[in-house]
Amino acid sequence: MGRSLRRDVVEELLLAHVELRQLLSLAGSLANTSATTAAADAARRICDYLDGDYRLHLADEEQSLRPRLLGHHAVVDDALAVMMRDHFRIGATLARLQGVCFLIANEPTTLHTHRFALDQAVVELSRHVERHHAHEESIVFPAVRRLLEAEQVEQVHQEMVSRRLDALVGVLPSPERPATAR
Ligand SMILES: [Fe+2]
Ligand SMILES: [Fe+2]
Repeated sequence: MGRSLRRDVVEELLLAHVELRQLLSLAGSLANTSATTAAADAARRICDYLDGDYRLHLADEEQSLRPRLLGHHAVVDDALAVMMRDHFRIGATLARLQGVCFLIANEPTTLHTHRFALDQAVVELSRHVERHHAHEESIVFPAVRRLLEAEQVEQVHQEMVSRRLDALVGVLPSPERPATAR
C-alpha cells in the first residue's frame, strides 16, 4: 500500500506477483538468519504485507476480475475456478507463515523454535505460488486484455484504486469464503 497504482491493470497485477515472490524470498532468508531485531523487522514486514497488499491483490482478482471474466470462454471459466481453489489452499499455508512471523516479530528469540516451520512454509508456498502465478499469467491476465471492453478495464482500475484508498483509512477487503472456491 506504499506505492501508487499503475494505470495498466495487468501490469499492476504482475507487479503484485513480483512483490509476493520477493516476500517469500525474504521469509526464506529469515529462516536462515540470526534472532536479531532485524529479523523481527523482517517478520513484521511479512505480516504487514499479508494483511495489506496481499489481501488487496486477492480482492482485485476475486472481486474485480472474476465477475467480469466469467462466462466468456470455458477455458477462462475453468482457470477462474482453479484460481479460487488455489487462493483457498495457498491461504491456509500463508496463514501458517503469518502466524510464525507474528511470533518472531514480537519476540525474535522464538526464531530458533520456529525456524523449521518457517522454512517448511516457504518451501511449500514457493512451489504452489509459482504454479499459481504461471496459471494466472498465462490465462487469466491475458483474458483481461482479450475479453474485456476498455470500459470494463477502467472499472477494474477504479475498483483497485478505491480498494487502496479504503485500505489507507483502515478498511481492508474480507477474504472470499471457501464456499465460493469452486
Ligand atoms: Fe495473482
Ligand atoms: Fe491469485
